Amino acid sequence: MRWEIHDDYDEVCHRAATHFLDALDRNPRIVLGMPTGRTPLGMYQRVVSACGVRPRCFAYATTFNLDEYVGITADHPASYRAYMERHLVRHTDLAAPRIHVPDGSRTGDAELAAEAARYEAEIVAAGGLDLTFLGLGRNGHIAFNEPGTPFDSRTRVVGLTASTRAANAGDFASPDEVPHRALTVGIATLLDSTCLVLLASGEAKRDAVRRLQSGEIDPAFPASALHLHPDVTVLVDRAAAGSSAEAVGAGSAPG
Ligand code: GLP
Repeated sequence: MRWEIHDDYDEVCHRAATHFLDALDRNPRIVLGMPTGRTPLGMYQRVVSACGVRPRCFAYATTFNLDEYVGITADHPASYRAYMERHLVRHTDLAAPRIHVPDGSRTGDAELAAEAARYEAEIVAAGGLDLTFLGLGRNGHIAFNEPGTPFDSRTRVVGLTASTRAANAGDFASPDEVPHRALTVGIATLLDSTCLVLLASGEAKRDAVRRLQSGEIDPAFPASALHLHPDVTVLVDRAAAGSSAEAVGAGSAPG
């Protein structure tokens, strides 16, 4: 695991966007795993402005979002489909057939299981994820893989913890509106990605970052599964790294 501790959120986003755009340059047909949440917003902004001056920026790329709420439709403003539309799709040449987001609009167990299986198979059919960007939940969740998720999990429907629902309540009109379930790619799906870049910013992530730095590997802390992968870059700012920032330093590799 490669660690980069940056001064602030802007720098984290700059580095993340550089990873993103360099990978796209090297392989225009790249298959990308796409995060949502507040943390990647600055990365998407930078990617959008860079793509504004690049012909055929996303013309051959394929994207797979990592998760989606269950029980809201794609046009709900808090859906991750709508998030992608707002922050990336409408500003770039990423064409609809190449954008994949799990469909959480149906709520029946059989329909959701079928959608999860379809989504996992679609990733495989695309040749697997080449590069996946991840945020980090305060409780260590990655995508919507909450604490206790087995490391061999694949795309499926999951229940959201109270802490995750509270952390995401700001995207909804009221906290009660936050769905209780989501579709998410699994930890094994993520570990199959050729490489991964995890972003964390701000004091609220400090405990989770510290736990990731400890090197422990435990399903109680889902992000720790990333220690099992040979090509993971962690981009954090000093607020998230806290007092350990000096000890870790850019480029060293705990865990
Ligand atoms: C959300 C998303 C995750 C995201 C995480 C952190 O629940 N499902 O994929 O990485 O929580 O979000 P934020 O960046 O807003 O803190």
